[in-house]
Amino acid sequence: MGRVLIPREEIAARTSELGRAIGHDLAGRNPLLVGVLKGAVLFMADLIRAIPASIAMDFMAVSSYGARARSSGAVRLTADLSVSIEGRDVIIVEDIVDSGRTLDYLRRNFATRRPKSLAVCVLLDKIGRREVDVKLDYVGFVIPDRFVVGYGFDLGGLYRGLPDIHVLEPGAPA
Ligand code: IMP
Ligand code: MG
Repeated sequence: MGRVLIPREEIAARTSELGRAIGHDLAGRNPLLVGVLKGAVLFMADLIRAIPASIAMDFMAVSSYGARARSSGAVRLTADLSVSIEGRDVIIVEDIVDSGRTLDYLRRNFATRRPKSLAVCVLLDKIGRREVDVKLDYVGFVIPDRFVVGYGFDLGGLYRGLPDIHVLEPGAPA
């Protein structure tokens, strides 16, 4: 496996900060965290424990890269929410923003469902690869244009369970 880019201790420390910020911003409300399957599951599980409030959670799934390392550009909803978000304070929790297409799609899709408020929290921001400008409210780390695996991030469905975030070096044996 490639070298560690972000060790587990740094992920945990930053997640605590994000949780406190979200708890502060949404104090006294009853927010709904929406995790984007499957990549955001590990981050979601840690983030919800870092928010000092009682929080509801739900999940949805969008089409992803599959076994390829680059996006096809098309985004498709493959599993929808199980609850209505109308009138709710919603935070979309996503693993990474790359081109921005996935979150742009989700923001537009969610806006039509009339939430009371809508925010986006991402663990990683590959800012150098942005093609669509999308508003991010909470960002864990800005990272360079490298393909990462571990802590939810996969290549062809593998490596999600690694506790740290690794860079997949080109040509290196996975
Ligand atoms: P976007 O729509 O181009 O912003 O891509 C976002 C999605 O691409 C993320 O939700 C991930 O599923 C996937 N992705 C982008 N970069 C990486 C990476 O370095 N490792 C694993 N998945 C990635
Ligand atoms: Mg994803």
